[in-house]
Amino acid sequence: MSPVQPSAIKPKNVDFMVGDLTKLPLPFEDGTFDYVHMRLLNLGLHKDFWPTLISEITRVVKPGGHLELMEIGRAVMPGPTKFPNLIGFALQGAVSRGIDSDIAKHLKYHLESQPGLTNVQEVVRQLQTCPDRSDASAVRIAKLYGDDLRCAVTGSKAPLVAPGLCKEEDFEGLVKAHVGETLSTKHEFDWVRCFAMKGERKEE
Ligand SMILES: C[S@@+](CC[C@H](N)C(=O)[O-])C[C@H]1O[C@@H](n2cnc3c(N)ncnc32)[C@H](O)[C@@H]1O
Repeated sequence: MSPVQPSAIKPKNVDFMVGDLTKLPLPFEDGTFDYVHMRLLNLGLHKDFWPTLISEITRVVKPGGHLELMEIGRAVMPGPTKFPNLIGFALQGAVSRGIDSDIAKHLKYHLESQPGLTNVQEVVRQLQTCPDRSDASAVRIAKLYGDDLRCAVTGSKAPLVAPGLCKEEDFEGLVKAHVGETLSTKHEFDWVRCFAMKGERKEE
C-alpha cells in the first residue's frame, strides 16, 4: 500500500485491502456495508463492466444503505500546457482498450438501470484550480489540489519517458512548471457524484 496514505490518522474502523475489482465476487457477504463509495475508476474499467460491478456493489450494501460513485466530467483547460498532456495520452490509449471516456455522464443511467436501487441523485460540483475568490478556503483547496496533482504527475514518469513523450532529465522541471501553471491559471473540472439507496430501510 502506498506510504502516501497518512496511517497515523487512520480511524479505528477503517481497514485497507489490496484487491482487483474485476475479479468478482467481492470478498464480502451480502449486505455488509452501510455505505460504499467508489471514485475515479474511469481509466480502469471496461465500459461493459460497469453494470456488473454496480450490481455487485449493490449486493454488498445493506438494505437502506447507500452507494455513491464519483467521476470527473467536463474539463476546461486554458490552452497548451508545459507538461505533456498526460490525461489526453492516457485517455487515447484507454478508449482503444474499451473504457467509457464519458462515464461521468453515464453514472446516473447506470444507477437508475440497476434493480434494487432507489432515490438516484446526481450532483455536479465545479473544481477551479485557480479560483476567482482568494479567501482562505479557496487558497486551501488550491494548495490541496496542487499537492494531489504533484503526486499524480510524479507517478507518471515511466509512461511519459518510455514512449519518448518527455526526456528523463526534463521530468522534474516539467512537474514543477505544470503544478505552478495549473495553480496560476484557471482550469475547471466537473466532479460528478451520483448516489442511490438500496431498497427500503428495515426497522432494527
Ligand atoms: C485515479 S486513481 C483513484 C484513486 C482513489 N479512488 C481516489 O479517488 O483518490 C484510480 C485507482 O484505481 C485503481 N484500479 C484500477 N483498476 C483497478 C482494479 N481492477 N481493481 C482495483 N483497483 C483498480 C488504481 O490502482 C488506482 O489506484
